[in-house]
Amino acid sequence: MADLDQLKTTLLAQIDDAGTPDAIEAIRVAALGKSGSVTGLLKTLGGMTPDERQAQGPRIHGLREAVTAALSEKKVALESVALDARLATERLDMTLPVDAPLMGTVHPVSQVMDELAEVFADMGFAVATGPEIEDDWHNFTALNIPETHPARAMHDTFYLAGEHERPMVLRTHTSPVQIRTMMAQKPPIRIIAPGRTYRSDSDATHTPMFHQVEGLVIDEGITLAHLKWTLETFLKAFFERDDVVLRLRPSYFPFTEPSAEVDVGYSVVKGKRVIGGSEGWMEVLGSGMVHPKVIAACGLDPTEWQGFAFGCGIDRLAMLKYGMDDLRAFFDGDIRWLKHYGFSALDVPTLSGGVGA
Ligand code: DAH
Repeated sequence: MADLDQLKTTLLAQIDDAGTPDAIEAIRVAALGKSGSVTGLLKTLGGMTPDERQAQGPRIHGLREAVTAALSEKKVALESVALDARLATERLDMTLPVDAPLMGTVHPVSQVMDELAEVFADMGFAVATGPEIEDDWHNFTALNIPETHPARAMHDTFYLAGEHERPMVLRTHTSPVQIRTMMAQKPPIRIIAPGRTYRSDSDATHTPMFHQVEGLVIDEGITLAHLKWTLETFLKAFFERDDVVLRLRPSYFPFTEPSAEVDVGYSVVKGKRVIGGSEGWMEVLGSGMVHPKVIAACGLDPTEWQGFAFGCGIDRLAMLKYGMDDLRAFFDGDIRWLKHYGFSALDVPTLSGGVGA
């Protein structure tokens, strides 16, 4: 059957010449489709004598297999050329804004940090930062926690391996930023320092990495009254309620004297604790008047300069304000949690618009 060989040559040449996936598809339909040329040959098998079929069957099936293989090989080749061309020409600018429904969300911790910056900026505080890998002098010694002090053990510190000039730690609190700020700038000082902190601790209310915000004011004639007013103004603005009540309890921190733990009052509404009122008390932060030894360690004269400081867990603030009850979910990266508790990137907290977003 000369025309079978002829057909094979023609089809394979056409396939070879095809320049697009569409052209390949057209050849496939013309050869192997319902009324295609190869299909037509296959149909003739039914009308043949057994001898003819034995001779022609393998040839016709061989033709179909050769055409099918050539088609798919060419298709793959054309697709890879098309993909290379697209890769060479298409570019995505990842910095361009995208449609709002496709956008990720701002994590509640980031949102609360922005809210804190907004509330404190209104009171004249700047935002200060410090390293997360800290030396033990800034993290402990300068804060009046000498080597033998039991507070070092209480902090469940992560120490860095290896030889260093001073032992290095992952900072256990944001208080070392107080030291860095006092050493870097002259008073008057008013800063908050939000950031990551680390302790070797993990359960429903503790994670090895967590967030704190530190506050520091250094000036002449600063008293406990300034501290109380600042904290009250901050917590009322942050929780957006005028009925926020504070309770200062005497406490102990090595870097403050006197020291106070601050509780906020809550009420129970439909079985849930809501900040405001004074049905019960929740501890929210530690504070006090900066210890003269800490001021002196930074090279300032404590008879000239006084101040107050406070430290507060940001994750806990977020939980109290936005109603989450498991801290660990903050760091799971579960997209459903982030969609539910996250904020729109366009929801920038402002005092005039309400810092609650
Ligand atoms: N650094 C303390 C902690 O992590 C919190 C703290 C308490 C900070 C009192 C302060 C302060 O500045 O005055 O537990």
